[in-house]
Amino acid sequence: METLKTDHLPHPEGELTLRVQAMPRDTNPDNDIFGGWVVSQMDLAAEMSARQVAHGRVATVAIDKLVFMRPIEVGDVVSFYTIVSDTGRSSIQVQVEAWTRNPVADEEHKVTEGNFVFVAIDDNRRTRKII
Ligand SMILES: CC(C)(COP(=O)(O)OP(=O)(O)OC[C@H]1O[C@@H](n2cnc3c(N)ncnc32)[C@H](O)[C@@H]1OP(=O)(O)O)[C@@H](O)C(=O)NCCC(=O)NCCS
Repeated sequence: METLKTDHLPHPEGELTLRVQAMPRDTNPDNDIFGGWVVSQMDLAAEMSARQVAHGRVATVAIDKLVFMRPIEVGDVVSFYTIVSDTGRSSIQVQVEAWTRNPVADEEHKVTEGNFVFVAIDDNRRTRKII
């Protein structure tokens, strides 16, 4: 079987949960993509995974070990991969990786990763046991 030229490169870990294109509105005055925009997308992706585990409403309670490795350019398509790494009585930990693809080189690069912690909450915003 023919070996793909990208086989030697690292690959994303987890489930593809969200894919979005970085737009000019997501930049600062220097036309660089805001870190806060990326964190917002990561929170959205992680929340989708946590909600499935919690079977309902969750709230972000902590974000750990967030690292920005490479810049994201306007027009980049950013893919967010998630893994539920741990659960407790009411808490859910979700690891998120953000990757961009260079269509010319046909290579993907990890740009950001972080660990998001959610708590399952009820209609009154009180913590509840995960069922
Ligand atoms: C989520 C919230 C209801 C939890 O209330 P709380 O009093 O901290 O709840 P508890 O102390 O019972 O902790 C609940 C769980 O969260 C975990 N937890 C709480 N703070 C944590 C932190 N900083 N890091 C990791 N886990 C944490 C606890 O270990 C516990 O886990 P477990 O049930 O699996 O054992 C409350 O903190 C809250 O409303 N925070 C604001 C959430 C929010 O608005 N997020 C969006 C920001 S815009």
